[in-house]
Amino acid sequence: MDPLKHLEDLERRAELGGGDERLRRQHEAGKLTARERIDLLFDPGSFQEIDNLVTHRCRDFGMDEQLVPGDGVVAGAGRIDGRPVYAFAQDFTVFGGSLSETNAAKIVKIMDLAMKMGAPIVGLNDSGGARIQEGVLSLGGYADIFLRNTLASGVIPQISAIMGPCAGGAVYSPAITDFNVMVEGTSYMFVTGPDVIKTVTHEEVTKEELGGAMTHNATSGVAHFAVADDRECLRLIRDLLGYLPANNVDDPPRREPSDPIDREDDGLDRLVPPSPNQPYDMLDLVHAVADEGEFLEVHRHYAKNIIIGFARLGGRSVGVVANQPAYLAGTLDIDASVKGARFVRFCDAFNIPLVTFEDVPGFLPGTRQEYGGIIRHGAKLLFAFAEATVPKVTVITRKAYGGAYCVMSSKHIRTDVNFAWPSAEIAVMGPEGAVNILYKRELEKAADPDAARAARVAEFREKFANPYAAAARGFVDAVIRPRQTRPRLIAALAALETKRDRNPPKKHGNIPL
Ligand code: HXC
Repeated sequence: MDPLKHLEDLERRAELGGGDERLRRQHEAGKLTARERIDLLFDPGSFQEIDNLVTHRCRDFGMDEQLVPGDGVVAGAGRIDGRPVYAFAQDFTVFGGSLSETNAAKIVKIMDLAMKMGAPIVGLNDSGGARIQEGVLSLGGYADIFLRNTLASGVIPQISAIMGPCAGGAVYSPAITDFNVMVEGTSYMFVTGPDVIKTVTHEEVTKEELGGAMTHNATSGVAHFAVADDRECLRLIRDLLGYLPANNVDDPPRREPSDPIDREDDGLDRLVPPSPNQPYDMLDLVHAVADEGEFLEVHRHYAKNIIIGFARLGGRSVGVVANQPAYLAGTLDIDASVKGARFVRFCDAFNIPLVTFEDVPGFLPGTRQEYGGIIRHGAKLLFAFAEATVPKVTVITRKAYGGAYCVMSSKHIRTDVNFAWPSAEIAVMGPEGAVNILYKRELEKAADPDAARAARVAEFREKFANPYAAAARGFVDAVIRPRQTRPRLIAALAALETKRDRNPPKKHGNIPL
């Protein structure tokens, strides 16, 4: 046979994957094929595939009759916004995208290359799990991937998209990566599926309820983004990478903003309502200060009492962490603490400055929280902020009470620039709580307890519920006008650009997991 013709023939077979009928079924299920996904992920024409002629080595169960070049995963490197990125896409049309020895070796190869090059890696998951015909060879392949996910953690950004099934131990690769994006309606993740659950616990649950996109975005917190379809998923990954450096020794990309760096927003002077118990939407502040008002919110559906995500300020990527007074009054609970802590550690690992907006009345009280270990989980957020050596800037908009004041990137845990608005209340607790404790006996004896309490509350508010005691000690560096928050943040970040800070040498810390 003509050698070129032979190559063309092999390449065509590789591109066809599991064949026309299975490709049609993939589309019918509302999913794009592995190659279509890769095309949309990368800049046009930039993707260079490797190992497209790899075949499996299994000779049992009639497998020697079924050799598909590529063996169910498309792997290679290309450019996203001109920057190098590595990726693999499992091809569900070939043995259900299941992981064989050789298919795993392709993924491992691409992960090793990404590490060597210091470039992000994206995994597009759509797989029936371990290739049943290959037994322990497949399990070994998974473990090889898990090891690399772990070693790459904090060195290169790792992003997983769940675009079909992801079950059993297979879930642990995405779980170790930095961000999981799930496609609504077509993806699911679980360790044990509905059938096993029914046998073991007699619970009846659908795949969607058990491990669909919203379950993991809103309830378990396993996933960080829910998207409507494959196209939105791939667009989001491109956007997300735009905020991230290629690796832990690079800086995040800078983008010249069209938004003036000295832009003031007088609406912010009226953002905090007159009554301290009235909620407002902290997202309004985040959008008001960010370049072009753009904010890529992470974990939008989970633990809404804390907001996390990426923005740019004066063209610099920043990680935003903000209490949300419009949800659970902005208290810190277990889920919010863990959500915030993991994000802070991601930003610190990848040289992304942290901007914290604070309005927190404290940790959420209750037996559920205490029995659930709020002590241990709250400590994660404290630990994460304290160990972070990236530039850190905090703005206290209103409440900064109790332990939560210390935790939320306070001056005492090495935050570089701490601002407060004039509406800030920095105290051990809110005036009502403080008066009830300090003046308990006096109020019991008062002829008119309500009037006496109101007078004491007003007195306490006057004295402590303001930023000036903290400013007098330098715990806040400046009390700023809300309208000037954007220019003040941009100036602070510019001044911190050359920051060099280190933690004591150690193998690693022991964050309270
Ligand atoms: C080999 C598999 C496969 C697998 C699917 N296929 N899963 N081949 N190994 N694990 C094949 C099917 O035989 C079929 O081949 C094609 O992929 C499509 O599968 P269907 O069942 O027709 O598709 P669908 O109805 O959409 O169902 C998808 C599915 C189901 C839910 C994923 O296939 C399924 O339950 N598969 C088994 C899942 C599983 O138990 N995997 C092991 C999990 S344990 P044809 O030729 O007909 O197209 C695990 C451990 C990892 O993964 C451990 C890591 C430490």
